[in-house]
Amino acid sequence: MQYYLAPMQSLTGYVFRNAYNKHFHNIDKYFTPFLSSKGLSSKDKNEIIPEHNQGMLVVPQIMTNQTDVFLEIARQLEDYGYTSVNLNLGCPSGTVVPKKRGAGLLADLDMLDRLLDEIFTKCPIRISIKTRIGMENPTEWEDIQTIYNRYPLEELIIHPRLQQDQYKNHPNLEIFSEALEQIQYPVCYNGDLHSVNQYKAFTEQFPQVTTVMLGRGILKNPGLIDELTGNAPVTAETLLAFHEDILAGYKEEISGDINILYKMKELWSYFGDSFKNCDQFAKRMKKMMKTKSLPEFHSIANQFLAEYNCQANELPIV
Ligand SMILES: Cc1cc2nc3c(=O)[nH]c(=O)nc-3n(C[C@H](O)[C@H](O)[C@H](O)COP(=O)(O)O)c2cc1C
Repeated sequence: MQYYLAPMQSLTGYVFRNAYNKHFHNIDKYFTPFLSSKGLSSKDKNEIIPEHNQGMLVVPQIMTNQTDVFLEIARQLEDYGYTSVNLNLGCPSGTVVPKKRGAGLLADLDMLDRLLDEIFTKCPIRISIKTRIGMENPTEWEDIQTIYNRYPLEELIIHPRLQQDQYKNHPNLEIFSEALEQIQYPVCYNGDLHSVNQYKAFTEQFPQVTTVMLGRGILKNPGLIDELTGNAPVTAETLLAFHEDILAGYKEEISGDINILYKMKELWSYFGDSFKNCDQFAKRMKKMMKTKSLPEFHSIANQFLAEYNCQANELPIV
């Protein structure tokens, strides 16, 4: 099995990627959170410059519905040495969907077809797509896959939810199964593989799938892939070092303790799941999420990390 790390805006940026890669080194391909303006900001450049992506296979992601924006970003990515780019057709957010970007572009298939026609003709590097299966109804998928099959995608990553599902309900495995039969190039599965049980159930149903993309599962339990592959479970020591590297990276990247705290708290809203079996978890977590002091946050985090017990991780199949 090949494992990809999902792009997650403000969570799986270069600081997280580097720390993860240093301590776990089991991801075959990393995807950056999306870039969306052709004049790349200094934040965008930090995300993609080669110095921040050493020793990892990284594919930058673009979210746009405009050919010129896509091609201009792709051209700059080529200058940085990238050979692939990913198009985001999955973001379900209410701020992008009405503008026909992300999953919102699935509401206008003529526009999608035109965009793909132009970018596949002119883009200097290979293009993969990360997609949802439609906006409101699974029946939309048939027309969407017909369009994808017209173009030479490097690969198609499918998160088989509708835009209106956001992250609710369950991935639609019937549609995913249909896509596996119909799509003419490599398909990667993404969605809700957050535990060994969920992964086992998925791979038993789809033994032919050779690539999965993991997002929240890794944020909740950074040792997840070791558990999936039967490697030695992650230790408290490794998690502590991993956490220190992320914090040090944010201290370098971001100015102001409040802003660093914001990023760390966002991470812990997932990572906290690893410590659910600790004594007085809810009370300690509440204190950690409320504090405005970075040293206090760090101290509570370190106490949790010192108590880490990998047995606590397995979540029930949902
Ligand atoms: C906070 C957050 C930010 C995300 N940002 C992106 C993004 O920038 N690009 C993208 O394609 N998907 C994004 N996603 C979707 C994830 O890549 C992934 O498809 C989704 O979380 C389902 O996979 P999982 O169940 O393994 O987490 C985001 C999801 C979350 C929860």
